[in-house]
Parts: sequence; C-alpha cells; structure tokens
Amino acid sequence: MAKVALITGVTGQDGSYLSEFLLGKGYEVHGIIRRSSVDYRERIAHLEGTPHFHLHYADMGDSMSLVKLVGKVQPDEIYNLAAQSHVQVSFDAPEFTADVDAVGVLRILEAVRTNHLEKTCKIYQASTSELYGKVEEVPQSETTPFHPYSPYAVAKLYGYWIIKEYREAYDMFCCSGILFNHESERRGETFVTRKITLAAARIAQGLQDCLYLGNLDSLRDWGYAKDYVECMWLILQHETPEDFVIATGVQHTVREFATLAFHHAGIELRWEGEGINEKGIVEKVQGDKVQCTKGDVVVAVSPDFYRPTDVVNLLGDPTKAKRELGWNPQSTSFEQLVELMVKHDMQKVTREHVNLAEFLEKGIVK
Ligand code: NAP
Ligand code: GDD
Repeated sequence: MAKVALITGVTGQDGSYLSEFLLGKGYEVHGIIRRSSVDYRERIAHLEGTPHFHLHYADMGDSMSLVKLVGKVQPDEIYNLAAQSHVQVSFDAPEFTADVDAVGVLRILEAVRTNHLEKTCKIYQASTSELYGKVEEVPQSETTPFHPYSPYAVAKLYGYWIIKEYREAYDMFCCSGILFNHESERRGETFVTRKITLAAARIAQGLQDCLYLGNLDSLRDWGYAKDYVECMWLILQHETPEDFVIATGVQHTVREFATLAFHHAGIELRWEGEGINEKGIVEKVQGDKVQCTKGDVVVAVSPDFYRPTDVVNLLGDPTKAKRELGWNPQSTSFEQLVELMVKHDMQKVTREHVNLAEFLEKGIVK
C-alpha cells in the first residue's frame, strides 16, 4: 500500500518541491488549497491531473475543514507547511499571522487526535531559524536558546512548543524542522533573494532602473529549497521523533548576494556610501546586450524595507542532521544557488517581455 501524505501549504515554494519528492517516492499526495479570487497555482500546475496527486479546499483558520479532511484522507504523514511566511508582513498583520502560524499548528494536532490517528500519523512542523531572532549565540544549533524578534517568530515559537507538548503529553510522533532560509527559482518574489535576482535580470534587460533594498548588512545562511524538502521527509523517517536544525553552515550578507546576482546578470557592482546612503553602482558590464552603463546607480536603500526589529545574524549548525539523518548540507553551494536563480530569472524576464511585446503589437494590451 502506498503511504499517504497530507501537505498544508502545497502551493508554496516548499510544498511544490515536497510534492514532487513524495510522488517520486511512490506516495499518494494530498494538498490543501484555499480559495482566492485569482487561482495562483503556478508552482504545482505541472502536477495537477497526475493520478496520485489530489487537492482539497481547507484553511488553517478553519478547524472543521481540517478535521473533516484529515478524517477523509487518513494520512500516514502530515507536513504542516502552511503559514503567513513573510516576516515583514507579520508586523502589519500580526493577528492573522498568529492565527495561521501558531493556532493553525494546534488545529492540525487536534484534527489528528479527533480522528484517533495520534498513534499512526506522523507530523512534520515547518519551524524556523527566526526562533533564534536576536541571537544568543553563533552558530545556532538545537540547543541554542530562542529569542524571537518578530510577530512571525513569536507565532512560530508557539508552533514549536505545542508540537513538543503533544509529543510528550500524548506520545505523538511530531517533530519540528528548524529550517534556515532556503531559496529557489520558485521563491516568493518579495523575499530578498528573489527580489534581487528578478531585479538584476530586469535591469540587465533594460526593464527596470533601480532596485531598492533595506538592510544590506543582514547575514543569512541560505540553502536550496529542493535540498531541504528531503530533510523534512528524513525527519519523519527517523527512528524517534526529534527536532533538527537544517542549514548549510555558511553565511553571507544581503550585499554579497546582490553582488553575485548582478555578476551573473552581466553587471559588476561597486558599493559606495553607508547606511541609508549606500548605493550599488555599475563598474563594468559583460557583453553588449546589458542595458546599463558604468556609473549607473542600480541598487539603493529605502527605509520602507527596514523592519521594526530585524534578525541580522543567522548561521546554522547542521551537525545533528548530518550525523543522524545522513543529510549533506553542501549539495548546492551558495554560488550555485545564486547562479541558478539568476539564470532562471533572466529567461523568465525575457519570456515575459517578448509576450508583452507581442500583445502590444497585436493591440491586445493598451
Ligand atoms: P510560502 O511559499 O510562503 O508558502 C506558504 C504556503 O502556506 C502557501 O501554500 C499558502 O497558500 C499557504 N497558506 C498560507 N495561509 C494559509 C491558510 N490560512 N490556510 C491554508 N494555507 C495557507 O512559504 P515557503 O517558503 O514554502 O515555506 C513553507 C513553510 O516553511 C512556512 O511555514 C514557512 O514559515 C516555513 N519556513 C520557510 C523557510 C524558507 O526559507 N523558505 C525557512 C524556515 C521556515 P497560498 O498559496 O494560498 O497563499
Ligand atoms: N524581504 C526583504 N526585502 N528583505 C530585505 C530587503 C528587502 O528589500 N532588504 C534587506 N532585507 C533583509 C531583511 O531585513 C532580512 O534581514 C533579510 O534581508 C532576509 O529577508 P527575507 O528574504 O524577507 O527573509 P527572512 O529571513 O525575513 O524570512 C525568511 O526566512 C525565514 C527563516 O529564517 C522567510 O522564508 C521565513 O518564512 C523563514 O522562517
């Protein structure tokens, strides 16, 4: 019998990669989607209609929908990835973030208990390096104290503790993966890496003048999302339910990410000024197709992207995951990650530009 997995957040970056991974392992995969006025399912469009992939309407804010769905699907494994996952947005919508990211975890646990599946259904909780927040040590491991530093992180801390509580109180196989930032060609476009790779591609092709960013000094431990979803599965295959830090063990600043991304788009940057006055200026371009010239200011700082409290020094220690899960944190390097994201976005931007030009020519778009 094929194992049955239920994924919340299936339309997200991680949900899409995890679906592919589990289908490849022979799972029957069920995903939760929610109603919106525009059906945005680009990341999973290629999976829809395949025989072992099923989508159901439910919402993390709607207990009854979750209870009914868990009863209907009878999952062997639940991957709880659904969240309001943007840290800056959590300052603007803190209550919604708490409802989905904190109480939502409780709703999943209770849906499993209500359906009497607590002895058979394993649960993976998408926890986060944001729990370390205003960090108390570097690097951060499973034993580092938490110091959440945003409404998002505080909500996720509740999720972490309620998972631990149900594990101990009810002997449930439920675990948290404390994942550090992971990115990809499917990353949401307002997270800093994707914002940079898309902007570098547009600037190189003459479709944008300048990229505005917030804190350029912020340090992140960036990995590749496709590598990280394997860990989610490995955590649930581990003999005992435990929490794991998943990270590369290497950190870079936002500025370093931008420098490398522009390099792959054919633009060499130099940096001038400090703080709010810092600028990324074109020093050299490679090839005659790049649509900017030496001296152009292509990166500037805008306080709009500063956060009331910002997490600035994340570096994970993946020793436990390497040792106990046999996972390789270095299978995709930082350099490879930036290159593959820029390559993807250079093509995406060209494609979109050509399509738009065709529409304009035919008079479809005014
Ligand atoms: P993402 O791309 O933002 O995807 C979030 C998913 O949650 C989407 O499918 C979204 O559905 C869904 N969702 C949001 N609110 C919901 C609700 N009320 N009911 C049902 N579904 C809802 O996030 P991601 O990068 O894949 O991350 C996956 C999980 O890992 C999140 O919990 C995130 O907090 C956590 N995490 C991410 C990282 C990272 O670096 N990516 C690191 C650590 C932890 P819609 O498409 O309908 O919006
Ligand atoms: N988004 C964004 N936009 N961030 C910027 C910008 C900008 O223009 N300029 C600088 N930054 C800085 C942020 O202040 C932050 O310090 C860093 O870049 C990374 O920001 P994000 O890419 O938005 O990610 P995040 O680290 O806040 O959160 C992501 O990773 C967490 C794991 O550590 C999300 O995926 C969370 O869901 C996840 O838990």
